[in-house]
Amino acid sequence: MERTIKIFDTTLRDGEQSPGCSMNLKEKIEMAQQLERMNVDIIEAGFAAASPGDLMSIQEISKNIKNCTIASLARSNKDDIDKAWQSLKYAARPRIHVFIATSPIHMQYKLNMAPEQVIKTAEEMVAYAKSKCEDIEFSCEDATRSDIDFMAKVIDTAIKAGATTINIPDTVGYTTPEEYSSLITSIREKCPAIDNVDISVHCHNDLGMAVANSLAAIKAGATQVECTMNGIGERAGNAALEEIVMAVKTRKDYFNAATRVDTTQIMRSSSLLTRITGIKVQPNKAIVGANAFSHESGIHQHGVLKNKETYEIMTPESVGLDKNKLVLGKHSGRHAFNDKLVQLGYNLSKEELDEAFRKFKDLADKKKDVYDKDIEALVSSQRIDVPKTYELSKYVINTGNIITPTATVSIKKDNAVTEEVATGDGPIYASFKAIEKIIGKDFELDDFSINSITEGEDALGDVMVRLNDNGRKFVGRGMSTDIIEASITAYINAINKMIYENQNIIQ
Ligand code: KIV
Ligand code: ZN
Repeated sequence: MERTIKIFDTTLRDGEQSPGCSMNLKEKIEMAQQLERMNVDIIEAGFAAASPGDLMSIQEISKNIKNCTIASLARSNKDDIDKAWQSLKYAARPRIHVFIATSPIHMQYKLNMAPEQVIKTAEEMVAYAKSKCEDIEFSCEDATRSDIDFMAKVIDTAIKAGATTINIPDTVGYTTPEEYSSLITSIREKCPAIDNVDISVHCHNDLGMAVANSLAAIKAGATQVECTMNGIGERAGNAALEEIVMAVKTRKDYFNAATRVDTTQIMRSSSLLTRITGIKVQPNKAIVGANAFSHESGIHQHGVLKNKETYEIMTPESVGLDKNKLVLGKHSGRHAFNDKLVQLGYNLSKEELDEAFRKFKDLADKKKDVYDKDIEALVSSQRIDVPKTYELSKYVINTGNIITPTATVSIKKDNAVTEEVATGDGPIYASFKAIEKIIGKDFELDDFSINSITEGEDALGDVMVRLNDNGRKFVGRGMSTDIIEASITAYINAINKMIYENQNIIQ
């Protein structure tokens, strides 16, 4: 019989806690809504004890998401569990995720606890969490370096105390597919009660085997996989959701299993995450890389033209890569635009819709054909926009290969417009210098990239600017058919985000 594998997405917890991936509240909600649209089973929304800001963002995600279970992580102590429970008070389907390390090295050096104390703590804390919440996940941190008989005892104890999911994580990305598969098999033999609850796996990618290990575990009986979009996460990352889901789907014959994920939402989820974090996926990345479905060599192209299946094991459409799907144009009205948004799964307020429609009209004036991807980029950017402390008013660029590029930029703040002129090595650099003169502060540019949203000569330029402020990163995006305008907007947006997040820090 075909098994259903639950997808537990931890992009907003294990993913978000990795360097350069932190997100503000609006971004987390937007990402959570996209994960819901993609139909993951569980969203791990954060680690409530990490800070009041984290706790509050789990609460907000819980208010906004009704079709997925929301999990909140807690160490094995009452304070963490209380905070996790508090963070879940608005969730339709709450889950407390309690963990404790079970490997000798973690127990001795990190927890400073004897093995018997670890068993007792696991028992008491799972029972404590269970007194609050029906759905309890328990994780043996560093499971793959733990003594198997000891871990089986801990797991048995946790199940008796009320755990409904047992997670066996490869915390340090140490295991191999065969070894992990035997670990799951042995645990099932040593602790038969585990077959009455969900068996979860959670793999890190330090040796590049996170996805292979997770898939081997599915074969060995795991019923839940923990993963992140684009494989973001601590160090080398977590197992990539898109790879696991597409492997299970494409090799249904082998796994005899399925997930509930709507795979046509994969590209959109991947792009949204990149839009938020500014962290791009490598072009040859499986499933979501720019080259994942392109056939360059003549032999391959020839084969694909004759029969797609010669070199294509899954279709681009199955992951939502419909290329340039034409949707709307200059003459499309508000009604058609609204219908499109509903079809794309957006539910905008009247004010949001007014603004999106105005932006769409501006775009349709400059660009002949407006595609789904343009609309997604436009609406998702608008939804994660922060208040505009500074706003571009106008700019003039004077450049060429025989003159020093000069930028004149005017910026509005509180209805007052300030203008400055600056020169630089190129027109974009000159514009950034002019902005810094207006604001009276130099910013450290950490990263800058220009991409196009769709193909074609009139494609929207999508600029990402990342600023570094004492180790904290602020990503700004700008979109325009003019890449200088997109760059200026992205720079100003990154500054606005820095101001917004600094004002909204909840320690
Ligand atoms: O990697 C890990 O072990 C974790 C646990 C908290 C599940 O992230
Ligand atoms: Zn982890």
